[in-house]
Amino acid sequence: MPTPPHIIERLCQAAQDSANHRYPEAASLPELRQAVAKWYQKRFDVSLDADLEVLPLIGAKEGVAHIALCFIDPEDIALVPDPAYPVYSISTMLAGGKPYYMPLTKENNFLPDLDIIPENIAKRAKFLWLNYPNNPTSAVADLDFFNKVVKFAQQHNLAICHDAPYTEVAFDGYRPVSFMQADGAKEVGVEFHSNMTGWRIGMVVGNAEIVGALNTVKSNIDSGIPQAIQYAAIEALTGPQDCIQQHNAIYQRRRDLVVDMLNDIGLEAEPPKASLYVWAKVPEGYTSVDFANDLLEQVGVVVTPGIGYGKNGEGYVRLSLTISDAGLVKGLSRLAGWRDTRNKFKPKR
Ligand SMILES: Cc1ncc(COP(=O)(O)O)c(C=O)c1O
Repeated sequence: MPTPPHIIERLCQAAQDSANHRYPEAASLPELRQAVAKWYQKRFDVSLDADLEVLPLIGAKEGVAHIALCFIDPEDIALVPDPAYPVYSISTMLAGGKPYYMPLTKENNFLPDLDIIPENIAKRAKFLWLNYPNNPTSAVADLDFFNKVVKFAQQHNLAICHDAPYTEVAFDGYRPVSFMQADGAKEVGVEFHSNMTGWRIGMVVGNAEIVGALNTVKSNIDSGIPQAIQYAAIEALTGPQDCIQQHNAIYQRRRDLVVDMLNDIGLEAEPPKASLYVWAKVPEGYTSVDFANDLLEQVGVVVTPGIGYGKNGEGYVRLSLTISDAGLVKGLSRLAGWRDTRNKFKPKR
């Protein structure tokens, strides 16, 4: 969906100001860091020191990838959920480390079971990744879970990185919580956030030592975020927030259309409380790749095979709610066509 006009207007104004045609400060404009701190205070009732506990990023992905360089030496371990956004494990491997995968299963509400992580692995692990509301499963976590995570981190002397780009995409009145609201969260971890996907801007907040380490890495790799984009982000954080509700109403309508159609064609999918994704079980007898291929070849619909997010994603496909309404209606009518012709197609195994 298009970025709201007040944000674009601020971007255009800032782009015309020659003061913004230079290298930005690595740690970004103090006004942006303050805007992030104020937003966390207002949205989550979390207090942050704008100079030490906030760092703007060139999109959350950039920070998620680079933070591995702060923690990982060759052979070190990072605890990574499976299925997950692939950057957690790949950045660990790029830094020379090894991901240890924590299965996310439906039986455990797609939360990692911390109690089954072997003691010797937890001891060797430098940090643990979490992501709620979750991509790809769309699961959510509550404060009880995050409090347990903090205790686990303290017990095993490891850091927590929570990737939380979807806290503002929620439905039916549900309000996702922040990991930073957990007791002691700031002592053990950081949270990544992002709201303006296409503009390549995001932020990390929390533990000052970790935030400072990432700033050191980044200042040797990139030269900051163009200032006009930073001013647009300040406007997004401090200006009118009604676009969030408006966008969520659209996503919620799309979610309902998608889940109804999936159930109608015989696939098991629950309406997510948050995030931009629907996580659906593939029909009996198919692998996630077979099923995605069938939909593509037979009716021209693209879904993402769950196996692409890790071994435990097998048996599922992910559908995204970011497609336009017109595209979605077309895609759903094609899915209905798949149901009508389904008996003609035989799963490959
Ligand atoms: C879980 C997760 N983290 C991070 C990102 C990237 O966010 P950004 O666009 O701010 O880089 C995405 C985008 O798909 C995501 O799904």
